[in-house]
Amino acid sequence: MRVLGISGSLRDGSYNTAVLLAAAKLLPEGSEFELYGELESLPPYNQDRDTDDPPAAVADLRRLIAGADALLIATPEYNGTIPGQLKQVVDWGSRPYGEAAALFGKPVAVLSASVTDYGAVWANDHLRRALGIAGARVVDVELAISRVGERVNAAGELIDPETTGLLTEAVTTLVHSSQALARA
Ligand code: FNR
Repeated sequence: MRVLGISGSLRDGSYNTAVLLAAAKLLPEGSEFELYGELESLPPYNQDRDTDDPPAAVADLRRLIAGADALLIATPEYNGTIPGQLKQVVDWGSRPYGEAAALFGKPVAVLSASVTDYGAVWANDHLRRALGIAGARVVDVELAISRVGERVNAAGELIDPETTGLLTEAVTTLVHSSQALARA
């Protein structure tokens, strides 16, 4: 099981990235996890540049998505929705339109984390909706982590057992859904 993790936050001390890395440790033995590290270099979506020879960062992203059995995305919320740069992943990943799109049929679980009481639940909802429209198979995971600053320590480690339990359930759902889709 190869899982590509994508954090919607660009900052070094990101809680969402910390949550993703904690989730990676909960994957079944033998799984491979790769954290996407080039979000900042993705250009803004431009249909004129979406040709057979797309920007290198786009080609790399599409190759990484295509090579993964499943995606695990963690998003912050900026002003009530997902960060603009994360939307580039959805838009570039949704083309070429239809079955040739990197995201088409790809199992994806969405997590979100915020320092507020709401856990970036709007961003979580918006991302799941956009991914579904893009053709991804959004699995049945709804995990919005509130007050994440109390659950992750200064070293970026998840220290809250309740969140670890919910994250374990989320990762298990992603793995089982992905395996079921591969068999179908
Ligand atoms: C935020 N934050 C925020 N949080 C939230 O729950 N709803 C929101 O609408 C917003 N809006 C918002 C806008 C901007 C520009 C910033 C910088 C922040 C807070 C945000 O969720 C919090 O800083 C998270 O910790 C960011 O995630 P990372 O970077 O820690 O992964």
